[in-house]
Amino acid sequence: MKENIFSGVQPSGIPTIANYIGAMKAFVDLQDQYNATYCIVNQHAITVPQDPDTLRLRTKQLAALYIAIGLDPKKSTIFVQSDVPAHAQAGWLITCLMGLGELERMTQFKDKSAKKQAVNAGLLCYPALMTGDIILHRAKYVPVGDDQKQHLELARNFVDKFNSRFGDGLLIKPEGIFPTSGKRVMSLQNPSQKMSKSDSNHKAFVSMLDEPKVIIKKVKSAMTDSIGQVHYDKENQPAIANLLEIYASLSGKAIDRIVEDYHDTGYGAFKTDLADLIVSIIEPIQTRYNQLMESDDLYDILQDGAVKANQVANQTLASMEKSLGIAYH
Ligand code: TYM
Repeated sequence: MKENIFSGVQPSGIPTIANYIGAMKAFVDLQDQYNATYCIVNQHAITVPQDPDTLRLRTKQLAALYIAIGLDPKKSTIFVQSDVPAHAQAGWLITCLMGLGELERMTQFKDKSAKKQAVNAGLLCYPALMTGDIILHRAKYVPVGDDQKQHLELARNFVDKFNSRFGDGLLIKPEGIFPTSGKRVMSLQNPSQKMSKSDSNHKAFVSMLDEPKVIIKKVKSAMTDSIGQVHYDKENQPAIANLLEIYASLSGKAIDRIVEDYHDTGYGAFKTDLADLIVSIIEPIQTRYNQLMESDDLYDILQDGAVKANQVANQTLASMEKSLGIAYH
């Protein structure tokens, strides 16, 4: 029998090429080999303030993008988190079993809460909800980018503690799957910051829905350095190293080969080719995306996905509730 994989993306903005390279590309590659479930985690998105109409639209856009990048609803279960109430229910059980200290140690919480004046409790408890997402779907593997490593580690520790207290093998211990190139794609304007879909500086990222001419402009104006030679040197040339990783991931070429090809050309030619490469990947995705946004197929796909996801998630939730004494009959 195929093992289960699970992953999710927040509809907190339009996904960027960092989301694609770090995780979503692997969703497609892995759907043949595994029993795959992919979620649009709208309940995670509200850990920071969201405009309701925008959140609704982003949820639909992300669903369309999942399919436009090549997820096949016949192979993968695709659903919206709020359509499966077991996620919020398991999230609460897990919140009550996780230590406050464990949650407060999460780097992402520390970073995000430092930048905001008002922080809601959901931002702190978010990794408990994420742990629930993974374990409810009995996932053995979780394709994610590097920034989710710590959350995944928390989920792994949770499973160990739960199983040792309530019974071996009750929950599946998940493992991360990280890409070789691009597990942490950096901002195009600041190579010490990760590329983020919610960055207020739009030049810092390439969105999956940016028009080709915008993509070309953003890549051409990406920060470089004064060395002027294409090398893979993360320490001294972090901006170029980042562009090389993006190139390697999208072309499937080894970084050494790319360095060889552009070693004597300077940054201009390298950036032009990189922009063309990104456009060549994104344009066909956008064509499929536009078709999907205009059709009603999307809702049928999400409804089918929710039916399947509810079945699996409810079973796991029931066994967790039984262990905890919440199911009293
Ligand atoms: P989110 O929405 O921030 O990001 C979605 C995926 O994209 C990856 N990613 C990146 N990869 C490389 N470089 C970057 N700069 C970069 N930025 C983001 C993320 O690692 C992620 O894989 N908590 C998750 C969503 C989630 C989830 C889950 C994931 C909720 N429940 C269960 C896996 C399993 C998040 O905020 O992703």
